[in-house]
Amino acid sequence: MEVIIRPTKRDAIRLAAQLIGKELKSKPHFVLGLATGATMAGVYDELARQHREEHLDFSRCHTFNLDEYVGLPPDSPYSYHAYMHRHLFSRVNLAPANTHLPDGMAADLKAECAHYEQLIRQVGGVDLQLLGLGRDGHIGFNEPLSALRSRTRAKALTPSTLAANAPYFGGDVAKMPRRAITMGVGTILEAHRCLMLVTGDSKAAILARAVEGPITSMVTASALQLHPHCQVVVDEEAAVNLQGQAYYRWIFENEPEWAPYRADAEV
Ligand code: GLP
Repeated sequence: MEVIIRPTKRDAIRLAAQLIGKELKSKPHFVLGLATGATMAGVYDELARQHREEHLDFSRCHTFNLDEYVGLPPDSPYSYHAYMHRHLFSRVNLAPANTHLPDGMAADLKAECAHYEQLIRQVGGVDLQLLGLGRDGHIGFNEPLSALRSRTRAKALTPSTLAANAPYFGGDVAKMPRRAITMGVGTILEAHRCLMLVTGDSKAAILARAVEGPITSMVTASALQLHPHCQVVVDEEAAVNLQGQAYYRWIFENEPEWAPYRADAEV
């Protein structure tokens, strides 16, 4: 695992989007794993800008989202389908047939989850999985005690997750689905590369547990420590509790792979 600390949220978002853009340019048939949430909105703004101004081409790219609420149709404004359409799909040249999210309306959820895994396998697996970090340490909707080898399945959401995501439902927890289909931790760990983006002081404590704490199903993001190619891009606010801050900064300032990005900070 590599942790990269950038001065501001904007810098962290830009770096994450640059890393994705670079991969997409080098492999047009890229399979991109997508995440939702407030943190990701900035990444999608930046990818849309790269498409508009730098002709970043998504035409042969396939996307797979981590999760979707059970019981919300794709045209519900609260669904992750709608989120993705708003923030990315409507703004770049992705072929609609190449964009995938679990179907939260499926009559047979187990079959839908197996089908989703099958689709991922068919395209050769996810090349890069973008991830956010939930307040309770989840990746996707892998809530505490999710098996670290879990596969795509329906999962009950915790009260903490319901509270965190209530603002997207007009602040009304009663309107929220209680379950979601999510890629499993095991599914996520099979991505060839993982990129987790974490910003803001509200994530500082859980980020430290995920990155530097023991690997535990109580904080499913901690399973990323097992991944052979996982980068965690954070801003200063999220980084405050990290014990290895000095070392992480040294890496960004000295490792050759980061040279093209060092000059780019907008501070
Ligand atoms: C939801 C999503 C996660 C995301 C998390 C954090 O729970 N299922 O994939 O990482 O939100 O979102 P935010 O960026 O809004 O804090």
